[in-house]
Amino acid sequence: MNTQLLTDTAKKLVADDKGLLAMDESNPTCNKRFAKLGIPQTVDARRAYREMIVTTPGLGECISGMILYDETIRQQKKDGTSFLKVLTDAGIIPGIKVDTGAKDLAAHPGEKITEGLDGLRDRLKEYFQMGARFAKWRAVITIGDDIPSRSCIEANAHALARYAALCQEAGLVPIVEPEVLMTGDHTLERCRKVTEEVLRTVFIQLNSQRVMLEGMILKPNMVLPGFTCPPHQEVEEAAIGEQQFQVRLTDRQPDEAEDVDEVANITVKSLWRTVPAAVPGIAFLSGGQSAELASVRLNTMNLRFKSKLPWALAFSFARAIQQPALETWQGKEVNVKAAQQALLHRAKCNRAARRGEYTAAMERIRA
Ligand code: 13P
Repeated sequence: MNTQLLTDTAKKLVADDKGLLAMDESNPTCNKRFAKLGIPQTVDARRAYREMIVTTPGLGECISGMILYDETIRQQKKDGTSFLKVLTDAGIIPGIKVDTGAKDLAAHPGEKITEGLDGLRDRLKEYFQMGARFAKWRAVITIGDDIPSRSCIEANAHALARYAALCQEAGLVPIVEPEVLMTGDHTLERCRKVTEEVLRTVFIQLNSQRVMLEGMILKPNMVLPGFTCPPHQEVEEAAIGEQQFQVRLTDRQPDEAEDVDEVANITVKSLWRTVPAAVPGIAFLSGGQSAELASVRLNTMNLRFKSKLPWALAFSFARAIQQPALETWQGKEVNVKAAQQALLHRAKCNRAARRGEYTAAMERIRA
């Protein structure tokens, strides 16, 4: 194992307050997003969209690495220059999604297991030769009435660890992504419990498979209430003599501004309890939060805790960086410049968030 290469790459991915841009949507996922906006779902449209992203001027000042998909890593600009060369010339490290997707876990209704270990060693060798220096594997954990089950968490953690060990053998830094989904009506506290259990299990498996923690990046969810969590009312039971009553503590929508401090505190506390200090960086996924909220929340975590933490708190967003650009692009050549500006703007906001310097005024200036 090339320890030096792995630790250097991992450090570079989170250096200089930069972060990752995930552009690794599978074809079906990319097509779904195109369909919503009436963009044709063709190889050519996907290629043109990805060309718009990789050629955005100045992106390398905020983005350290870009995660590609098997189709994308083999594509070129219209003029024939490979995307890999464009990225490398811009100082952006190319990475590659290597899982083959989350499938139904047998005998576990509502739960998923991520596949892709068969033949992975050979695929990793090829990607390394092409120029990729890191990889990504996403495990999906759903919160519901009786889920996640212990067996689903263990199966996914085991697969993540096997993938990570194979990556390191091939000279690729593994991005280890156990995503606890925001889908559902669960509370912030339930998400915290599940996230902590998942992360604890993942690190037990990573250690068991002899993964070098200094040569990996963790890509977790932020700890957040489910999308359909009702405005939560925390109540405290109180009693005076015989009379029982409830004291209302909070009554907020999950996305309201006051929530930001709470999310930052709980997310960092959960990571502090579960992620070893040897890991150089934690790069959050955005998970369906709005672009602005993802930036505000990352900013708050760094503002409050950056100087006290052993690992960097960075970003590895797909939707929270790409969505405004995709909506601006609309599949039209005339919109490329404006879409690139929208993309660069989000990248700059997130770099500022890594420094704890992101402000709402950054959004107003652009508008
Ligand atoms: P989102 O930021 O859109 O959640 O995507 C991150 C990612 O890489 C999903 O695997």
